Amino acid sequence: MALDPLVDGHGRRITDLRLSVTDRCNFRCQYCMPAEGLPWLERDAVLHFEEIERVVALLTQMGIASVRLTGGEPLVRRDFPRLAAMLAPLVDDLSVTTNGYLLERDAAALVDAGVNRFNVSVDSLQRDRFFAMTRRDALPQVLRGLEALAAHPEAHPIKVNAVALRGFTEDEILPFAEFARQHSYEVRFIEFMPLDADRAWTRDQVLTGEEIRAAIDAVHPLEPEPREPSATARTYRFADGTGRIGFINPVSEPFCGDCDRIRLTADGRLRTCLFSLNETDLREPLRAGASDADLEQIVRDAVWRKELKHHVNEPGFVQPARTMSSIGG
Ligand code: 5AD
Ligand code: SF4
Repeated sequence: MALDPLVDGHGRRITDLRLSVTDRCNFRCQYCMPAEGLPWLERDAVLHFEEIERVVALLTQMGIASVRLTGGEPLVRRDFPRLAAMLAPLVDDLSVTTNGYLLERDAAALVDAGVNRFNVSVDSLQRDRFFAMTRRDALPQVLRGLEALAAHPEAHPIKVNAVALRGFTEDEILPFAEFARQHSYEVRFIEFMPLDADRAWTRDQVLTGEEIRAAIDAVHPLEPEPREPSATARTYRFADGTGRIGFINPVSEPFCGDCDRIRLTADGRLRTCLFSLNETDLREPLRAGASDADLEQIVRDAVWRKELKHHVNEPGFVQPARTMSSIGG
């Protein structure tokens, strides 16, 4: 780290970047995208690999040590493993969030490129219900992708993320608990957040992590593990020693206080919160020939204004214009 650390106006050190490499996706999850998709960014609106590399190199000098590559669906970006290979030498920790559809094709290339952690989204373990949620009949393909990834010891532990929706996920709880006990995957339930394209989110659709934890605990007792600082998940061991399970509870138990994250969208906008209502353009200065010192100042100013916390639980909460797919999870 050659430059001063990146800190926000609330004294939080920023060390984690979520980087969206495309807004496109081959799925249409109910809680994220409309069935017809969204108006995609033009090709030239999306940051080029060299632009991404430059921004990441600069951010690492300010203490960003961990980069998570997301989308949309990052694996639909052409030559994505090559981008991963460009970034891996710059950071301590390079991870990918994917829907798994193309993992059978790309798992080996991504592990070789230096990706050391993977999050794979799976919302149901039943084919017809998976189809209902993602609008793609893709569960067998995703499970094959998971197996392709699991064949690489470097990729472990692999996280499997399920968005929890009331009226849907109740029937998935025990199957996922069994799945976590039978495989080496760490299953994590994520509370549904107001980042859906249909703007249909309501509080009563949020099945809380605590409700799911209690349902599992009644059948398979759970023991809490210590929470790592700035971790998003609360994790538990099955008391009999087989497997782990986690809960990401941004709605019922916000974890903004020790947030260490910023986000960069595929079109080069820096976002300091998932729920930010404004963002800072890096693409225009990058393309206008800004110096590293100029870019550094733009980033520092934006990060300084990072939101103290989200306001999802307050009256007057305003959902951001962007959906999860165009922010990056
Ligand atoms: N609420 C919670 N999680 C969401 N994801 C996408 N949209 C939402 C939402 N509205 C999840 C995806 C994936 C990660 C990128 O974010 O399922 O696991
Ligand atoms: Fe695609 Fe992920 Fe959104 Fe599903 S949640 S539509 S996989 S970007």
